[in-house]
Amino acid sequence: MKKNWGIHTTAIHAGDNPAARDVAPPIHVASTYRFTCAEESATAFEQEHLPIYTRWGNPTIAMLEARVAALEGGEAALAAASGMAAVSAALLAVLEAGDHVVATTGLYSGTYNLLTRDLARLGIETTLVPPADTAAFEAALRPETRVLYLESPGNPTLDLNDISGLAELARSRGLISMIDNTFATPLNQRPLALGVDVVLHSATKYLGGHGDAIAGVIVGTENFIRRAQKGPLRNVGGCIAPFNAWLVARGLETFPLRMARHNENALAVATWLAECPEVAWVRYPWHPSHPQYALAQQQMPGGGGGVVVFELEGGLEAGARLLDRVALCSRAVSLGDTRTLITHPASTTHHSVPRQVRLASGLADGLVRLAVGLEDVEDLLADLEDALRG
Ligand SMILES: Cc1ncc(COP(=O)(O)O)c(C=O)c1O
Repeated sequence: MKKNWGIHTTAIHAGDNPAARDVAPPIHVASTYRFTCAEESATAFEQEHLPIYTRWGNPTIAMLEARVAALEGGEAALAAASGMAAVSAALLAVLEAGDHVVATTGLYSGTYNLLTRDLARLGIETTLVPPADTAAFEAALRPETRVLYLESPGNPTLDLNDISGLAELARSRGLISMIDNTFATPLNQRPLALGVDVVLHSATKYLGGHGDAIAGVIVGTENFIRRAQKGPLRNVGGCIAPFNAWLVARGLETFPLRMARHNENALAVATWLAECPEVAWVRYPWHPSHPQYALAQQQMPGGGGGVVVFELEGGLEAGARLLDRVALCSRAVSLGDTRTLITHPASTTHHSVPRQVRLASGLADGLVRLAVGLEDVEDLLADLEDALRG
């Protein structure tokens, strides 16, 4: 059979068990697995060639992991209970007290809090640098720096990191590079092919795609994934529930189709907003007004993603009025759902980030984040127009 499948085939078939007669993969719900004899269980613990206990993995979880690894072009993947379980397991797999991290300021607030509070308490320091300033990443490196942590596009400012430049910097200094690829997804951006070592996902978003499962995934080398699995994932215990693994794997079967439509709808919404006199500014990676538009075209060849951010003339108050008046868009945090979600990050997703840090990272008080869904774009534009002018 042809091996180098396209992305649609991969999303449907990668991780399938060729011996199974079920056309749809089963959900293995058992928390533990029985052995035929004492010797078999001892060998299983030694070699881990059989399922043992679901916190250590199981066939449904393995199916999801194989599918995401194939989509990202990685050797292996590790599913986790949430995006944050994936991010924390990846960082804890390599960091020790005394180590230092250099990270982009354009971070999801959970990651910001993990780095600057929880890991800081354990003696791991982080320096945050502006996303677009590759020279600042280099200047922030110290002898004890161990990880270069990227998020591109960043949540919610949609600033980009120069992924291949920073991956090269990490490699040349013997650091591990990690990137949160949640916003871009493997349809739009392949960080491993750009030289990054570890890719992280909140699979709650576009990979699952239906707003019904919290999940996360790490992708990397077999060696790194086993380290994250045997250490923090197992011992901190953020394993994914088999049902959630199944939901995400099922969501993945339509992921490339859905993502292409998220891209298309979001670009149309960004283009429309950019023409509205009520809108002060719009940011979208594939809109020519994005300050890193050329970089977006180069490192996100598949599309600009599903998130558009903007600020209205009248800032915070006008934004709050818009949120109050939309009818089709749901006032809800998160992204990657079939439904369009609208939120005000300064008071919701990023309310725990100190205001000065938030403003310095470009997250204005009045910034509105629209996670564009799969609806007919005319209906979304009509909803936004009614809310702005009706
Ligand atoms: C970019 C990014 N990374 C990680 C996370 C955390 O994911 P989860 O909510 O699945 O833990 C989020 C959540 O919004 C996110 O937007």
